[in-house]
Amino acid sequence: MDEITYSSNEELHKQLDYIEKIKEVLAEKEKEAGRKLSASVITFGCQMNARDSEKLIGILHKAGFEIKDDDEQADFVLYNTCTVRDNANQKVYGRLGLLGSLKKKNPSKMIALCGCMTQEATVVDKLKESYRFINLIFGTHNIFKFPELVYLMLVNDDPKHMIIDVWKDTNLIVEDLPVDRKYSFKSGVNIMFGCNNFCSYCIVPYVRGRERSRKPEDIIAEIEKLVADGVVEVMLLGQNVNSYGKNLDEDITFAELLRRIEKIEGLKRIRFMTSHPKDLSDELIEVMKDSKKINPYMHLPVQSGSSRILKAMNRNYTRERYLEVVNKLKEAIPDITLTTDIIVGFPGETKEDAMETASLVKEVGYDNAFTFIYSKRTGTPAASMVQCDEKEVKENFNMILETVQETAKERIKRFEGRDMEVLVEDVNDHEEGFVTGRLANNLLVHFKGDASLIGTFCKVHLDQSKGFYLLGTRIDGN
Ligand code: SAH
Ligand code: SF4
Ligand code: F3S
Repeated sequence: MDEITYSSNEELHKQLDYIEKIKEVLAEKEKEAGRKLSASVITFGCQMNARDSEKLIGILHKAGFEIKDDDEQADFVLYNTCTVRDNANQKVYGRLGLLGSLKKKNPSKMIALCGCMTQEATVVDKLKESYRFINLIFGTHNIFKFPELVYLMLVNDDPKHMIIDVWKDTNLIVEDLPVDRKYSFKSGVNIMFGCNNFCSYCIVPYVRGRERSRKPEDIIAEIEKLVADGVVEVMLLGQNVNSYGKNLDEDITFAELLRRIEKIEGLKRIRFMTSHPKDLSDELIEVMKDSKKINPYMHLPVQSGSSRILKAMNRNYTRERYLEVVNKLKEAIPDITLTTDIIVGFPGETKEDAMETASLVKEVGYDNAFTFIYSKRTGTPAASMVQCDEKEVKENFNMILETVQETAKERIKRFEGRDMEVLVEDVNDHEEGFVTGRLANNLLVHFKGDASLIGTFCKVHLDQSKGFYLLGTRIDGN
């Protein structure tokens, strides 16, 4: 692949100019309408998309739109889509159907689609065919062009014209566009984009392109800026953070990047996802062990407990190798919490394979696991393999889910009775007068408190485990 181009100036300034142009057009439209125009960005999918949405919202806000959560009310709606499993796509089509009928009543409503779904040619064909009311479609590789595309959409006066701008891949990374964070005290930070692994079931490499790492100095500068703005926790994002740095001129590993981030004063917690087991190095385990800030937590997707299926999945590790890595982590960091992703029903999976996955869940003792039914993705190698019987898959899925729940419920008990620090994230929606926060190990804790605690650290006595979370009492205040 060609060298990565870091364009922090030319392209950035072009797009910042477009933000100014949007402001002018918007002011005119608002004068006509006699009110402010609003925008809503609805996010599907993973942390990567969530972070992209913060950038998209940042641009819309800066350009003068009033930001709303409500896609039915907003003048401009943008869906940031996911295509990792078919049900993600179906949700988007469902929403689009509803918006199409709303647009019949209100033709000035503007609708756009971006994210992973739009990187699939078959999806774009379907949208062109059956969803003609969409104004703008763009992909994952050119979200930095969003100001320009919004401007073109606003000045387009042909209602039949759909603006479609989807790139196959890119080697461009544009730094420093505006961002509106969802949380004031924590933030995702992209350290790399794309994926080179081509697990045989997965569509991500096709829709997110080849792996490209950001330069360490750009990452550090972004985190320093975030910390100066009140952020105490960062989540470093990449599809496979353990292979960070491979395309860079500077010889740097993920572990070394962590060492440098650790030195940032004022930053309290460092998380990362996702770690691919095949690339998890001893150096990383060492850095985690010695660190005061890197959380004693690892999301380590296993996908299957059967070496035979892992091979067919092109995961490049065996059950034994995975367990070896887990044991090293537990030895170095005894209190570590572990979570994982599991796919049930990969082509050719038998009852015995599923039993092996369940036994691995018990052996590792996961604190939580996200269990998915295999979804056939067009264009991936697994799509042309012989698919499993649906009924059997459902049975295996239920059996594994039950094992996950039982294991997690048992495991979480090891924290009962301890005093630990919680970073408060939100007021609790279910229990009046309670807040919800996270331990450094990512486990959720509920305790009595109010909104004034959001974003602060509280010392909490962990009274009782409740399945996937703990109930506690604050011991450092009222
Ligand atoms: N890069 C990360 C995960 C990306 S997708 C990693 O390597 O782990 C998140 C999860 O979705 C995956 O871990 C996998 O469990 C699941 N997934 C991906 N493709 C899928 C498919 N075709 N069907 C069902 N689940 C899938
Ligand atoms: Fe998909 Fe595998 Fe890449 Fe993860 S590592 S994004 S599962 S191809
Ligand atoms: Fe979905 Fe794209 Fe993330 S397919 S899981 S939003 S990288």
